[in-house]
Amino acid sequence: MYVCLCNKVTDGQIRAARREGARSLECLQTRLKVATCCGRCSDFAEQLLEEDSLACVSADLAPGQPCELPPCVAG
Ligand code: FES
Repeated sequence: MYVCLCNKVTDGQIRAARREGARSLECLQTRLKVATCCGRCSDFAEQLLEEDSLACVSADLAPGQPCELPPCVAG
């Protein structure tokens, strides 16, 4: 599903970026150009980042074990 129509970015691309370390809208803007035109997609893009963070916490991790993801790398 397209999240950012202006830049043709899908939810799958945002989730993939999250798995690769994107943790903020600014990082998504740098990596995928999400919300760099009209900005109407910014809230939903941030929501997807947050949902994936919650999913990470509930994944196969020991209680209290943080989700280890690589740092956000622009590119
Ligand atoms: S829909 Fe994403 S910038 Fe316009």
